[in-house]
Amino acid sequence: MKLVHGMLVYGMLPAVYGSTTHATLPRASQPLPMKSDQDLYKQLRDLPKEQLWTQEVARFDAASPRERMEGVALIRAVGMIFSRFGTDEEKEAVRAWLITLLKDPQEKIRRYALAALPKIGAGAEAEMEMLSLLKEGAQEREKKHLGRALEKVGGVATLAVIEESGGALPGITELKVKAAVSRRENPGAVKMEALLPLEDGMRIFLRCRKGLEGFVLEEAEEVLSSDVFDIERMEPGCVTLRPKKPFSLAMLYKLRCFATVGFSLGTVDAGPSAQSDIQKSRWVESLARCIGSTYARSIMLAGTEGAARYRLEFAGLGHQRGMVRQVIDRAYELSPEILNDSRQSLWSVDVIPVAGGGSGGGSAAYRKSMASVELRPRLYPDPRLAYRQDDIAAASHPPLAACMVRLAEVGKGASPEGREVQEVIWDPFCGSGLELIESALRGGVDTAYGTDLDDKAIEVARANFAAARLEQTNGIFTVCDFRDARREAEIAAGSISLMISNPPLGRRVRIPDMKGLFADFYTAAARALRIGGRLVFVNPLRTGPEDPSLKLEFQKTVDLGGFNCRLEMYRKVVPHEKAKQSLTRHQKGPLASNTQGKPREKGQPDPAWWSRVGKSVKGGRGKPRPE
Ligand SMILES: C[S@@+](CC[C@H](N)C(=O)[O-])C[C@H]1O[C@@H](n2cnc3c(N)ncnc32)[C@H](O)[C@@H]1O
Repeated sequence: MKLVHGMLVYGMLPAVYGSTTHATLPRASQPLPMKSDQDLYKQLRDLPKEQLWTQEVARFDAASPRERMEGVALIRAVGMIFSRFGTDEEKEAVRAWLITLLKDPQEKIRRYALAALPKIGAGAEAEMEMLSLLKEGAQEREKKHLGRALEKVGGVATLAVIEESGGALPGITELKVKAAVSRRENPGAVKMEALLPLEDGMRIFLRCRKGLEGFVLEEAEEVLSSDVFDIERMEPGCVTLRPKKPFSLAMLYKLRCFATVGFSLGTVDAGPSAQSDIQKSRWVESLARCIGSTYARSIMLAGTEGAARYRLEFAGLGHQRGMVRQVIDRAYELSPEILNDSRQSLWSVDVIPVAGGGSGGGSAAYRKSMASVELRPRLYPDPRLAYRQDDIAAASHPPLAACMVRLAEVGKGASPEGREVQEVIWDPFCGSGLELIESALRGGVDTAYGTDLDDKAIEVARANFAAARLEQTNGIFTVCDFRDARREAEIAAGSISLMISNPPLGRRVRIPDMKGLFADFYTAAARALRIGGRLVFVNPLRTGPEDPSLKLEFQKTVDLGGFNCRLEMYRKVVPHEKAKQSLTRHQKGPLASNTQGKPREKGQPDPAWWSRVGKSVKGGRGKPRPE
């Protein structure tokens, strides 16, 4: 079959493809040998949908059985084009056409219709037609395709037929249909307050961006009960906990600095695709056993309201598509209460390579080839960010904002007694306001100023701030360039106790002169901060302030999702006191000067904390050291 002057001609394909959208018409006089269905499909999908429907479908319907077999790719093209671009009415007409094709005597035509129907949105009529094909004794190959289509469109009627027929369709079809039915009837929820059972060797992984683990550790030590959790280890991007008693997700979600939490299900080989069939099937079995384990089942069942549905995700290991079906099929055999479902699932089983020091135990070489299998609740939206009404494209990574707030020790202040102070804070590039809100949530913030050039961002920041119900804090948001904040937002010199910001990093927000912007930023900080005030921000450049009143106290390289920046803290000092302060800090640890030589009081951070979360910067000119 070929397209000549935009029409299908059976038995040959055009030398040059032509359609009403393409100026070049085919040379009908040069018939070519028959090409594959795929070639024809590629040509047909470029035709205007009206032409596909009124000319090609009409010709297909009138063609002989042999010609229809040659032009079977039309079914796929019609399914694809109308599912994407068809109106509801057109989709209805296409659906009805595809259902008639399910009765075609030729298996290949029925198979193409089966594949196209789920895309266009098959309803109950299509499902019944598929089920009657099954009952009429479809052959193995067709059964397989029926199974795949019913996985996508099947409902209770399909489940009833599966039950009656006892194995007429593969287990994976039953699993997928069950998952879809339960998703539709009751999407369910993760139970935050439910106590999750323990098992010997269980570990909890608090995962974060590399460089932030010290903050996660420090927060875990401060917030989690040591009766319930032991903190076992810290490594780049992960803090591992060992639960000692049943615990709830609500306990863990009091922490704001981690990004995701996962429960250890075991380890598997990290590189199955490069291996032999035997190794692949062992890999399938070992991963399925992690998912289908009693332990995974008991956590998911205890922690889910409704059916426990999970999806499988491979971090940095490709999709492993070929083996995913085998894994989920086998896991279903082992644990039929747990359903695999890639849509709106409440849990994820993550397969994460543990190269470079993972959580799998054993030697470094062994760990390099291993992947950790972890069960993770999928909480969208993140319950810690309930205040987030809206977002902006360049918004901060929320756990980074929480880590910055910990670094700034918001609410604790630098007074000798460590008592709460009333902070006045300013984020010059506030965007949607995450740093300001995360600061104010810690308490002790009197006023939060946010400035941003973008009026939409300020609107979002105001809405988020209002939703956070921070009654103790006065939020003042102004659309302006940060250089004009003195005039536009009335930020007086020496009035700010903390400047905290995730500035434009030159990636999502393009800035023509980054060095100039940062030079102005330091000038603004030196002016606005009061003595003892802090500047906490993410620095994408390797430059620091010229102004000697800004003294670098902390610097740590942090992965911001594929690129590194430095998280830094400067303190505003009286320039001539700088040498004296540096000496004190150098001798006694960076926080020692806060206590002015007195023993650490209850509630004061342990000076050792400093060395864990980042490196303090020794005396000198207060400029960041190159890393
Ligand atoms: C990385 S985003 C800040 C994200 C923010 N922390 C949040 O959570 O949404 C940087 C912001 O700086 C703003 N910006 C860029 N240049 C600016 C300038 N000269 N003055 C004020 N704001 C500016 C951009 O509009 C953008 O919203």
